[in-house]
Amino acid sequence: MAFTVNGQTVNVSTYPAKPLLDVLRDDLNLTGSKECCGKGECGSCSIILEGEAVCSCLILTGQVEGKKITTIEGIGTVENMDPLQKAFAEEGAHVIKNRQWEQGKSASVIRGISALDSECGAVLLVNVDQPVPSNSINQLIDSHQRLQGKIHLPVFHGRRGHPVLFSTELLPDLREISEECQGVKSIIRKYDTEIVHVPMTDPSVLYNFNTPADYEKGGQTCEFRKKR
Ligand code: FES
Repeated sequence: MAFTVNGQTVNVSTYPAKPLLDVLRDDLNLTGSKECCGKGECGSCSIILEGEAVCSCLILTGQVEGKKITTIEGIGTVENMDPLQKAFAEEGAHVIKNRQWEQGKSASVIRGISALDSECGAVLLVNVDQPVPSNSINQLIDSHQRLQGKIHLPVFHGRRGHPVLFSTELLPDLREISEECQGVKSIIRKYDTEIVHVPMTDPSVLYNFNTPADYEKGGQTCEFRKKR
């Protein structure tokens, strides 16, 4: 079966009913698409098929014969950015790609930190599945500017949330994190007595959007969506 992946034509010898996700990972060694739910709910296996985002766990390989696919490995480079990366860059963001992503989230944090300007005042860590309401972020920055503390962490009704702001004093610690030691959680544990808790009115600081259902549920209460 022949189809195009990330601009290159590939010929795969497999049975048509094999899930495309398995072919991408096992036959083509494109492991950026992950299997999590296996039933089209989480999106961790997402690819672009003929311009549409689809879940590759639900697609049979026979369905893509002669078609064009883009996986995460084929999404733009720093030299040749895709539209999303370009939009961030145009707003002043410096786009960094972690090519050792299979080593886990700690590797991405370390990669991002390696690109920081030496003059930067703090590090705000925001995960891709978390909402980023500007009010909450401004409150964290304000807390960092007014109060001493190595870590500034949002709380809603007594529960710790995200994103987390780290003082640049902690850069040496952040460069040493590892998945084995639970990444940034190890830094939060180490400096627990030096955390400034910043009370928030927006519950979205507690949310993780891992499924479309999480997104819809969270959207009913998040301030950032109410304002759109
Ligand atoms: S693994 Fe395909 S949607 Fe979850």
